[in-house]
Amino acid sequence: MKVLVIGSGAREHALCRSLSLDPSVDSLYCAPGNPGIAEIAEQRQVDVTDAAAVADLAARLGVDLVVVGPEAPLVAGCADAVRARGIACFGPSAEAARLEGSKAFAKEVMAAAGVPTARSYVCTTPEEAAAALDAFGPPYVVKDDGLAAGKGVVVTDDVEVARAHAASCERVVIEEFLDGPEVSLFAVTDGTASVALQPAQDFKRVGDGDTGPNTGGMGAYSPLPWAPDGLADDIMATVVKPTVDEMRRRGTPFAGVLYVGLALTSRGPRVIEFNCRFGDPETQVVLARLITPLSSILHASATGRLADLEPLRWRDGAAVTVVVAAENYPGTPRTGDPVEGLADAADVPDAFVLHAGTRRAEGGGVLSSGGRVLSVTATGDTLAAARDRAYEAVGRIRLTGAQHRTDIAARALKGEITL
Ligand code: AMP
Ligand code: GLY
Repeated sequence: MKVLVIGSGAREHALCRSLSLDPSVDSLYCAPGNPGIAEIAEQRQVDVTDAAAVADLAARLGVDLVVVGPEAPLVAGCADAVRARGIACFGPSAEAARLEGSKAFAKEVMAAAGVPTARSYVCTTPEEAAAALDAFGPPYVVKDDGLAAGKGVVVTDDVEVARAHAASCERVVIEEFLDGPEVSLFAVTDGTASVALQPAQDFKRVGDGDTGPNTGGMGAYSPLPWAPDGLADDIMATVVKPTVDEMRRRGTPFAGVLYVGLALTSRGPRVIEFNCRFGDPETQVVLARLITPLSSILHASATGRLADLEPLRWRDGAAVTVVVAAENYPGTPRTGDPVEGLADAADVPDAFVLHAGTRRAEGGGVLSSGGRVLSVTATGDTLAAARDRAYEAVGRIRLTGAQHRTDIAARALKGEITL
């Protein structure tokens, strides 16, 4: 099978890594890719939000499957354009991608499908926002309605900060604060049948101890030793199936991966957000333990044959990823610095380095070019072993001003996460 992956982050590097190890994949392309991906896939240039250009590229390359990584090309209709050329595409239509593209739309679908989520108001004026903030009280949760790369959400005890964020967005969703540990579950679906990947946990805040602003994600681990038995089945039954059924009923079936972000509250799991694509950095740890060839799952989703897929197989043990971010991320990150120690980091047993914000330097080597620069991942027989290796590898990376969280998976390991 010839496969084209669209995107350029660590998630796409993880997807390409799994596909490059997949015996059914004989040609692998990535557009636009990054210097890490270039080592395992042929790189092509494309504007990922230009749906026609992506479809042209897929047709020119003669690929059997296109895998769209990020949300922006999905919301821009990439999957529709590729499918219109008769090429299988993993990822939802633009209509279905609204589950991520508009938080208000996601809330409406959840309400229609009876999916448990935070109570919320959609507000378009400062007066409406003030009333909604008063109705819920602190901590305040204010979400920009549109796509914001994980940074459109403000959770704060300060009503002035909450009001200011609401005022800076055209349309906001203000909702009830959900208490309890967070879980990310990826459900691959073909619009009718769905299959759960293993749950993971992400670390959204930039600083240790969940301090500082929200980011795209600073690290992840999987599986979750503290999760209740049957958690994935429960979420499939109460969240994924009703949502997938509702989207089909509306005539806009959702095929691809439905990313369910949840809080496990004292009243049960509640959806925090839907995304229409794999999570980053959770994908890095989920795929690290997947034995089933990835192409078989993605192709079955893209061609409506997921019901025929054998149960997924997983490696025992655990995986941990730690994001190495540039100085000043998630503000305006410092870029253009040499990233060194990549080979030394990859020498740590069972560790590997996935690239995100990197670019090739003129004289060879790699420079930082974005906020999240690398996603350093490791597996191990135990969560402790995976974590130790990931941090040993992180310790070998040299990048001026780099920052990373030192507490990824730490509370899980100490048994401090309780429901
Ligand atoms: P989102 O982009 O919707 O995933 O929000 C980013 C992060 O904000 C989530 O991962 C949570 O940590 C936090 N968050 C969002 N909504 C809520 C909520 N209703 N209650 C508590 N925390 C939330
Ligand atoms: N890790 C959070 C996200 O991908 O949105």
